[in-house]
Amino acid sequence: MTPDPKSTPNRTDGLHALAQPVSAALTRAAIFLVVTLKPGSESPKTLRSFCGDLGSLIRAVEARDFEAALSCIMGFGSEAWDRLFGPSRPAMLHPFREIRAGERHAVSTPGDLLFHIRAKRMDLCFELATQIMARIGNAVAPADEVHGFRFFDDRDLIGFVDGTENPRGGAAIDAVLVGEEDAAFAGGSYVIVQKYLHDLAGWEALSTEAQERIIGRKKLSDIELDDSVKPTSAHNALTTIVEDGKEIKIVRDNMPFGRPTQGEFGTYFIGYSRSPGTIELMLQNMFVGRPPGNYDRLLDFSRAVTGNLFFVPSVTFLESVSEDQPADSALPSVSPAGESSPSIPSRREGSLGIGSLKGDISNE
Ligand code: HEM
Repeated sequence: MTPDPKSTPNRTDGLHALAQPVSAALTRAAIFLVVTLKPGSESPKTLRSFCGDLGSLIRAVEARDFEAALSCIMGFGSEAWDRLFGPSRPAMLHPFREIRAGERHAVSTPGDLLFHIRAKRMDLCFELATQIMARIGNAVAPADEVHGFRFFDDRDLIGFVDGTENPRGGAAIDAVLVGEEDAAFAGGSYVIVQKYLHDLAGWEALSTEAQERIIGRKKLSDIELDDSVKPTSAHNALTTIVEDGKEIKIVRDNMPFGRPTQGEFGTYFIGYSRSPGTIELMLQNMFVGRPPGNYDRLLDFSRAVTGNLFFVPSVTFLESVSEDQPADSALPSVSPAGESSPSIPSRREGSLGIGSLKGDISNE
């Protein structure tokens, strides 16, 4: 899969696997494809044989314009994981947990696979999406497809700059990539997506100052509101998670989308994290409130219409998958110290052998 120098991780925890470019730079265009796996035994076979080929598909499309920074991430939902890869599974992968609080509802919707395709040019995203569907179209059914674009000054459609507080460089790698806490799946990442639709007329009827108190930042300058004036219900207050005195960050790559003739104006939320628990806690704070009742007023104007959790395995994992891999075969189990169990051989020499799990996690 295409290496992304910006997201090349150099972890110091002694594990080595090639990561998908989850923390690739924000781009002008993106396509989000969520599909479900059709019933029957042929669909998993098609998907498994596709896993190792995705990299060459990306390279073929990327070669049409190397400057366009094309990248693609493939993620798997909890049930699909079981059907495709059997019982050896990422420790924290589970179906998206819906939240209901008052009028607010973080819905959980169908979705077995996610493709997050990014580039500076929509035509490259579109071509890759087309090529992916040509390969797996018979095995999957569409659940959702969103074509996102970067709006003025990196703003979302509610007019605020979105993405400012994303961690950068090594901090981003540390925030998103699984490490020794689940060594067999090191280099993987968890991703939550939610498609939000905005009541733009209602939002725009608010004063700029009221909007700023909801988001927690100044609208024009994007400067964070001072704590003395920022409400505890501000979006950026409720999504700040501190554990043992340390802020736990996630990497977001939200994209505006819409259809003006339909009155549809939205934000596609996508957040990558080393543990899904971090984003789940943010959602809890937003929907239920911290403390309960002190919820995110952005939700009075934005409604989640989809919700999914996926695991994004490493490229090393994807390239080790074969069409006929039996459902109960497992990854080589690797102890936190990086030693593999002698009873479970690696699936392809050199890809997930014990040697490759030592050193750095890398996108290259
Ligand atoms: C309607 C959907 C959403 C919109 C329009 C939106 C917009 C924004 C904006 C404008 C900011 C401030 C600038 C920035 O730091 O990026 C922000 C910050 C943030 N948002 Fe959202 N967001 C949405 C949903 C979510 C969701 C669902 C989550 C997580 C579950 C989330 C997590 C965060 C985080 C972690 C920050 C940075 C907080 C900080 O460290 O200051 N957002 N968002």
